[in-house]
Amino acid sequence: MCGIAGYLGYRKAYPIVINGLQRLEYRGYDSAGIVLMNDNKLTLHKTKGKVSDLKELVGQENIEANLALGHTRWATHGIPNDINSHPHVSNSGNLVIVHNGIIENYNTLKKELLARGYSFKSDTDTEVLINLIEEIKTKNNCKLEKAVQLALTNIFGAYAIAVFDISNPDEIVVARLGSPIAIGIGDNNSEFFVASDASPFIEYTKDAVYLDDEELAIIKIGEDIRVHKIKDNSIVEPNIQELQLNLEQIEKGGYDHFMLKEIHEQPNAILDTYRGRLLPEKGIIKMGSVDNNIAKFLNANRIIIVACGTSWHAGLVAEYLFEDLARIPVEVEYASEFRYRNPIINKGDIIIAISQSGETADTLAAIKLAKSQGAFVFGVCNVVGSSIARETDTGAYTHAGPEIGVASTKAFTTQITVLTLMALKLGNLKGEISNSQFHNYIQEMSLIPSKVEETLKVNNIVEEIAAIYKDAPNCLYLGRGYNFPVALEGALKLKEISYIHAEGYPAAEMKHGPIALIDESMPVVVIATKKGHYDKVVSNIQEIKSRKGKIIAVVTEGDTIVKDLADHIIEIPETLEAFTPLLATIPLQLLSYHIAVMRNCNVDQPRNLAKSVTVE
Ligand code: AGP
Repeated sequence: MCGIAGYLGYRKAYPIVINGLQRLEYRGYDSAGIVLMNDNKLTLHKTKGKVSDLKELVGQENIEANLALGHTRWATHGIPNDINSHPHVSNSGNLVIVHNGIIENYNTLKKELLARGYSFKSDTDTEVLINLIEEIKTKNNCKLEKAVQLALTNIFGAYAIAVFDISNPDEIVVARLGSPIAIGIGDNNSEFFVASDASPFIEYTKDAVYLDDEELAIIKIGEDIRVHKIKDNSIVEPNIQELQLNLEQIEKGGYDHFMLKEIHEQPNAILDTYRGRLLPEKGIIKMGSVDNNIAKFLNANRIIIVACGTSWHAGLVAEYLFEDLARIPVEVEYASEFRYRNPIINKGDIIIAISQSGETADTLAAIKLAKSQGAFVFGVCNVVGSSIARETDTGAYTHAGPEIGVASTKAFTTQITVLTLMALKLGNLKGEISNSQFHNYIQEMSLIPSKVEETLKVNNIVEEIAAIYKDAPNCLYLGRGYNFPVALEGALKLKEISYIHAEGYPAAEMKHGPIALIDESMPVVVIATKKGHYDKVVSNIQEIKSRKGKIIAVVTEGDTIVKDLADHIIEIPETLEAFTPLLATIPLQLLSYHIAVMRNCNVDQPRNLAKSVTVE
């Protein structure tokens, strides 16, 4: 999964594209490259490493250029090195391409092109595509856009590409299948921006077209953007949207890391997510996409949730919510397993697909599988216009804003917020929750943002605890009921950004094995909030204590019992059991953050990870 940024216009392209790539580094950061075109002079710079390394490599060469295509990579085909990084150039040197995605049949195509005299410098699938385009263009003596269209009809896989011909430097051809691409349009078509998302050009224009799957666009200085369907070249009316993002949202807002900024953005993110949906003054929950399909939900035999990583943990919380509040049976599936497990999808089943990025390949494939079997698929996504948002029948956006830190935080709590609203609404409509209970839930939900704000005040205590356990080789996380998925999420956060091995477990499951791991060197994080099997969790804490485990307990303000048992307590505000995940997860996010900072880990871009995984 990579980041693409490009510019064509009257401004100096280099600073726009190089800054754009830096904003896209959350998408992949193992190698980078840029091509600059000025007065028929083409310069190509590619390097293993980060965009900052590329900047050094470019220096001042050819930076007057008005056309540039750049790329920050997360290797899939070909190891991260200078040659395999993008852009790639065709054998003749005339055609240039940047690509995000995977061409699954590239090996076959490569063999055919080799047999027809083409040669390859890199191990990438992308270089195969640009030479296929060149061959078609030469053979048919056709325009670049036609050659790209014909070439893409021979491609299997996912791609977002931008291509230009050095003999025609005022035109770029852009196409998409599966991987996102946005086109920014300047005043009077005087300039165009191409990028994997809008962040590289947000301060230059608010007008953008998000290409749909199987669409190709031609951008040419002074001309309106043209969009065609790849399969039949039919014309598509470009959907020019006004961007809602602002630059500040993208920058760190004064925090040391995007992750810490995003942890502190959760009160507003939750508020923004239920804005216009949770109407405490009217005592109702309004969700158009649920309301418009209410019969399906009320008659649902089963809800199957498909997701990956943190989104999968949000799905687990939703299992407790829908079964407890709406009495609808739920199964939570790892999308990567679901897509190949030949799952049984019955009539009346509803699929809920959860994804922050909306681009996770396994989740997308699970959706396509479910749809191919006639299931109704509801999406919960954070990225507007993303593939999953387009692929699902309908859905609800989490309004968390851009999540730049690879470790998901505000997306998790806003996903839970959307799912909680859905479960409450259905529970009340089904009569599983009385109107007075429903009223209480709504009132309490409207207090959650301020309770999260309150919870964030534990930051300093958590930082002190982190200093004690930053060198621990392992860590266990325990929770019961609604807090079991939170324990899993806490463990994932610590693994992701501090590289400490950590596991989450249902607290009662500990006796069946993990308790063997416990001794004085094992920190055990226990979520022991008042609501939710408190007494049982207290006895689990005593079992750990008797094996000298170090107990870090998340408790409800004013707790007195666990206080005397645990080595460290983190107090959070009281709330209803079903809402505890929204508060209890905050101290765990902060604990992993501070430990990672103290271990000098790259908090926002942990090793081996990328923000959304568009390959399987
Ligand atoms: C979480 O911190 C990770 N970044 C990862 O597990 C992530 O949740 C997973 O890849 C799913 O991503 P999505 O929500 O964008 O689909």
